[in-house]
Amino acid sequence: MRDHWYTASAPGKFVILGEHSVVYGRPAIVLAADLRMTVAVRRSRWNTMNGERLDFRRQPHLRYLTRDLRHAVDVETHSDIPVGSGMGSSAALSAAMAMALAAMDGRHLTEEEVMLEAYGAEFYAQGNGSPMDASACVHGGGITVNMPEPRGRHLWDVSRGERHWSFSDLEVPEMTFVIGNTGIRAPTGPLVDRVHRYMERSRFACEVIDDIAELTVQGGRALMRGDKEELGRLMTRDHKLLSILGVSCDELNRLVNASLPYSYGAKLTGSGGGGCMVALTDRPEKVCQAIASRGGTPYVVRTGGAGARMELRPPTTAELRR
Ligand code: MEV
Repeated sequence: MRDHWYTASAPGKFVILGEHSVVYGRPAIVLAADLRMTVAVRRSRWNTMNGERLDFRRQPHLRYLTRDLRHAVDVETHSDIPVGSGMGSSAALSAAMAMALAAMDGRHLTEEEVMLEAYGAEFYAQGNGSPMDASACVHGGGITVNMPEPRGRHLWDVSRGERHWSFSDLEVPEMTFVIGNTGIRAPTGPLVDRVHRYMERSRFACEVIDDIAELTVQGGRALMRGDKEELGRLMTRDHKLLSILGVSCDELNRLVNASLPYSYGAKLTGSGGGGCMVALTDRPEKVCQAIASRGGTPYVVRTGGAGARMELRPPTTAELRR
């Protein structure tokens, strides 16, 4: 019953501006990173993941993605993207897996179809988020969400209830970003829920979301002009607003503060609560040193990572288990 492997990969992502407010249909700017998740699948007699029996309670994404399969699968994953770090590891897993499963079935999905599958899996697994991570991990490069003019090529629209997201391609700017990982794992769902509860009981929290939306639009314009000073200033301001919403933590604040003397600006990226921060800088070595000296793991990101794609050659077991 065993078949050959079908392999796909998808990039991680980092949010420049607009996380959390994007959940409410507000604007956001996201870039793909040059870190990838690779997923290989093949037909099998039992469901396994990386050589162990697959426990769907612990992998709800995979339960969703395999819902129509009439047979079991072996799944092997290899990731450069740190898990639970705000860099889109779960959206990249969903995107690559959706693509590999379709190929195994002899189907070709459009980019938009892969995104909808990946978003469906994300929504099933953690509820309540936006299609931003799935879109970024499928499309790669850079994307903007619900951004007024100027915008790049329109990609797709997604609606859920009263919320609506319109995605456009973003020409990726020549800018250097450094990621700092706190090493603290923080799943997205509970942080999105925390902000939601805060907004339900506080008009102030809703105004903070409005402020994030406004500065994201300004940030989009600064990005188009290549104005690093203004973009950095807005990123640092965004970090303060996200801290007010309660999604930063001491470790993230420490890495952001350490980066600021050598950066245009810095902020947490993704859902927060741990995970990663990102700094915009012309002095990446200095920022890396500052992050490392505060116990974080620095990483100079190369932007413009390719979107989800099939890999021609199945990875060897050694590569997958690296
Ligand atoms: C997580 O990368 C970004 C959030 O805005 C959640 C989402 O948009 O799904 C916090």
